[in-house]
Amino acid sequence: MIIRCENCKTAFNLDENRTNKPNFKARCSKCQHVFNVCRPFWTHEIPFLNLSAAMENRGLDNIISVSNQKGGVAKTSTCLNLGLSLSLLKKRVLLVDFDVQSNLTVSLGYPNTHSFYEVLQGNRNDLSKMIIDTRYENLRLLPSNENMVLLNKKYFGMTNFEYILRDRLNLIKQEYDYIIIDTPPSIEFFTLNALTASHLAIIPSQCEYLSAHGVNRVVKIIDLIKAKTNPGIDYRILITMYDGASPSSKLIYTKLSDRFKEKTFRTKIDFDVKVKESQIMNMPVACYNRQSSAAAQYMNLAREILSYRKNENIAGL
Ligand SMILES: Nc1ncnc2c1ncn2[C@@H]1O[C@H](COP(=O)(O)OP(=O)(O)OP(=O)(O)O)[C@@H](O)[C@H]1O
Ligand SMILES: [Mg+2]
Repeated sequence: MIIRCENCKTAFNLDENRTNKPNFKARCSKCQHVFNVCRPFWTHEIPFLNLSAAMENRGLDNIISVSNQKGGVAKTSTCLNLGLSLSLLKKRVLLVDFDVQSNLTVSLGYPNTHSFYEVLQGNRNDLSKMIIDTRYENLRLLPSNENMVLLNKKYFGMTNFEYILRDRLNLIKQEYDYIIIDTPPSIEFFTLNALTASHLAIIPSQCEYLSAHGVNRVVKIIDLIKAKTNPGIDYRILITMYDGASPSSKLIYTKLSDRFKEKTFRTKIDFDVKVKESQIMNMPVACYNRQSSAAAQYMNLAREILSYRKNENIAGL
């Protein structure tokens, strides 16, 4: 593993076997500067595997995380609009804003007063008191705030840190038909916890070269999660902001669906300016403009997910 001194910029080749810690301090042998080293997650085994804990996850139902390391691919928009569509279909939905950016909380028009951080600070296991009703029937929210950044610092790398969210969702999951978790465009504490808690990972991707490339990376991480902390997880790729008039969009869509076949949702979400406008109005797109193509497509996505339960394409969903 190559590390570089943050002071004199000298690069060193560190023997990976000298430590198995994800974060550690190193002293530069040239300038003696001490600096923090954080290993990229995929270069080492997921730490602190607890096999018995991993097996327990098989019983989880209907928890969906929306994840992609690539930023701006419509993770938050998908959580909000899929959640609203499921709630319109009379499903009880909990949205979990598990991103320090708090975009989901803000998109719903709520101040970010408290978050999962305050749950852990108070040594509470019960999330119920932190969950708020939104102005939409059947749609509730566990908000986020800027304190969430401390969770990564405090818990990432601790024994069994991957199970912190799952264990707490387990206590309340019976109250909801679907729990949908928004994640940041990075791995570490939040995404590893969300994927460990989830039955299904939705991977939103635009039909752009780099975005499609990023999908391979997320799928690799999900494979690791499947092997280590959550054997029950499955995934589906969701094409977002699709532009049918663009030949490159069409080409990349064909490549993605050829490669991932049934792991790609049949529903695509088109580029629709109403999604952007609805965000400014702090509303899901179906409430802002019921006739918009994005509103109809997110409703189709909700129906596609509901059909899994009937067809048992994804066990339990
Ligand atoms: N179908 C769509 N059509 C047009 N614009 C869209 C669509 N979906 C999302 N957007 C816009 O794209 C931008 C990024 O969306 P969003 O915040 O949902 O992405 P994200 O993946 O959650 O980003 P981040 O990685 O920062 O969390 C926003 O401005 C949003 O309004
Ligand atoms: Mg987001």
